[in-house]
Amino acid sequence: MISLYSRDAAMRSADAVRRRIGDIEPEIAIILGSGLGGLADDIEDAVRVPFADVPDFPEPTVLGHAGSVVSGKLGGRAVLALAGRFHVYEGHPAALAAFPVRVMHALGAGILFVSNAAGGIRSDLAPGDLMIIEDHLNLTFTNPLIGPVQEGDERFPDMSEPYDAALRESLRAAAKKLGIGMKEGVYACLTGPSFETRAEVRMLERLGADAVGMSTVPEVIVARAMGMRAAGVSCITNAASGMSKAPVLHSDVLAVTARAAERFQSLVRAFVTELPRAK
Ligand code: HPA
Repeated sequence: MISLYSRDAAMRSADAVRRRIGDIEPEIAIILGSGLGGLADDIEDAVRVPFADVPDFPEPTVLGHAGSVVSGKLGGRAVLALAGRFHVYEGHPAALAAFPVRVMHALGAGILFVSNAAGGIRSDLAPGDLMIIEDHLNLTFTNPLIGPVQEGDERFPDMSEPYDAALRESLRAAAKKLGIGMKEGVYACLTGPSFETRAEVRMLERLGADAVGMSTVPEVIVARAMGMRAAGVSCITNAASGMSKAPVLHSDVLAVTARAAERFQSLVRAFVTELPRAK
């Protein structure tokens, strides 16, 4: 029997996706966060595989997550985008939240680009800002690698630089070329689904977090364990709890990502276009 969310399960899911998308090997896996799924529409020669057709993918349950794997070309590069993702707050184990990364790696992707919506903690982070993720705090109190070590994984992956320095530089260069101002900072991942209390945000600030969200970290941990290079961008959608007088509302998260979508999409396209090709 194939155990849940294992490498073998990922190979089986990858086979099912490959039957739909053909033999093209994606270079770059892209995960689209809440409200950022519009990038999938920029993909040329796109083949969309609904999550429901991928073995071991559960149905997504959250507003703003469409739920399909999209294969095609972006800026002349073969990409595989995940429009929608799985979260720990949906009741999924962290290993399932990261399982699509195993599948995209099995299909050939060597680079993972992740995106998310996040609340801004640092005072210069305003709604609509794009923030290159410099490092993260795993505050989910779990880890997607807990359990039997998968073939090809590091048992104890180095996490001293989970977000690849050269990829971060490529993001800066792409943004500069487009005249898009970027922030950089540390992303803290909590399970949610409740947003943070004001006291929790004060705690996160003291712990060194610049932004807070509910995704990304399980996926990046698994990517690193498999030897993929990772990069990520947060779209700051709101002032984190207590950083402004306003309550934190999911409707604001979606409204702000909608406003930032065009800038985000041109950034990702430029980033992908300019990436040096793997030898
Ligand atoms: N907290 C957690 N997750 C989020 C937030 C937030 O303020 N905004 C968008 N995702």
